[in-house]
Amino acid sequence: MNKKNVLPKNFLWGGATAANQYEGAWNVDRKRASTADMMTSGTHAIPRRITKQLEEGVNYPSHEAVDFYHNYKGDIKLFAEMGFKCFRMSIAWSRIFPNADDETPNEEGLKFYDKVFAELKKYNIEPIVTISHYEAPFALTEKFNGWEGRAAIDCYIRYCETIFTRYKNVVKYWITFNEINSLLVPAGAYLAGALLVDDSGIFNNTEVDSVKMRFQALHHQFVASAKAVHLAHQINPDFKIGCMINYSCGYASTCKPEDVAMAQKQDQINNMLCSDVQVRGEYPTFAKRYFEEKKIKIYMAEEDEEILKKGCVDFYTFSYYKSHVVGTRPEGDETQGNVFGGFRNPYLKASDWGWQIDPIGLRYVLNHIYDRYRIPIMIVENGLGAVDVIEEDGSINDIYRIKFLKEHIEQMKEAVYDGVNLIGYTAWGCIDLVSASTGEMEKRYGFIYVDKNNEGKGTLKRSKKKSFYWYKKVIESNGEELN
Ligand code: BG6
Repeated sequence: MNKKNVLPKNFLWGGATAANQYEGAWNVDRKRASTADMMTSGTHAIPRRITKQLEEGVNYPSHEAVDFYHNYKGDIKLFAEMGFKCFRMSIAWSRIFPNADDETPNEEGLKFYDKVFAELKKYNIEPIVTISHYEAPFALTEKFNGWEGRAAIDCYIRYCETIFTRYKNVVKYWITFNEINSLLVPAGAYLAGALLVDDSGIFNNTEVDSVKMRFQALHHQFVASAKAVHLAHQINPDFKIGCMINYSCGYASTCKPEDVAMAQKQDQINNMLCSDVQVRGEYPTFAKRYFEEKKIKIYMAEEDEEILKKGCVDFYTFSYYKSHVVGTRPEGDETQGNVFGGFRNPYLKASDWGWQIDPIGLRYVLNHIYDRYRIPIMIVENGLGAVDVIEEDGSINDIYRIKFLKEHIEQMKEAVYDGVNLIGYTAWGCIDLVSASTGEMEKRYGFIYVDKNNEGKGTLKRSKKKSFYWYKKVIESNGEELN
């Protein structure tokens, strides 16, 4: 039985990043553009744009990001100093297959990750690798309209086979797609590498959206994910392959049965539809009704059902940042969120970006997921995006971030005591990196500050924040020391 305030001995503490927000070097060593490299920076109020060609004088934040590519040794050393047991990162697919369907992989790209994994091994840090984190080669978009085209499955599997084989002895944990359920909302079209007719402002709920196209792309990702799981186990039976869900926690706004039913429906569609397919190997019954009512017709090949059945993931991972309210609410009471928004909750405060802070929601969600799937769970993203101020003496006293993380870790421990089989926790953006939703630099999550501003200017110098020392203590004490 789990004990109060005690986490499992080998608990995987660490941090999380994604290549397109972290690596930079977007066209170095034969890498070509990814979908993320075609996205301009935006702000809280101005949505990012996708351009089919790169525009002169425009800031594309992923191009340099914070240049992990040339700073990986120093960064990993800092992670090791904090005591990281694991490090979640992603491989930039366009570094390995720059044209999406190349006959052979790009050796220079592969070599870069050889070096990164060797460096992590030096410090005994376990890599957790996301295969596709919000990006694909832009060539996949040009050739097949991204994941709308079934050909994307073969490209992805060739990429998987290459990296599974190459890193067979150095990586154990793999995640097939970051936040696969983001394809459920209009912004998800671009995350699927699919261009819409009107591609202005992806994070606006643009009216020009093809629901059918998104669900087709999602189906292709399900098939690709299942095939990848199957292949991975053939290449190395010790591999552990996970799904990754953007968990959208929505409470009923009142105890009115209609509100409760609406919250349940939203939970089924937003959260469970994708993980049911990936964990249980088939579409849930409620999805069939949903597709019928929304007139969504997905083309499925004859063999797909069998492929999905054979490709169930080994563990479940998710991101958790906020919660919202679902149901009867006056207009104008909406709040923003991580891809999924909702209504404001009068009992919660929000971050400067309008994401409502709800540590107890994390315990609720962990119990809910574990009750349903009974497989190991990892929290692979959690954190507070905030503006940090450098004091005159150079220190950064991010006590608001410490408070956020502390309260979430406390609830995570409660969930473990409840019986949830939680195997790890990686704080999002453990080093400052580019924000996915806005493209800003100054929406920071890190324990490590990076000198770069929203205009893309700065020395890229790394400095430790107060939270750096705090997290080190948390890891050292396996989560017992949170003050
Ligand atoms: C998750 C993504 O949705 O949220 C990350 O997987 C992203 O890529 C993170 O960065 C935080 O969102 P944002 O928009 O604040 O960067």
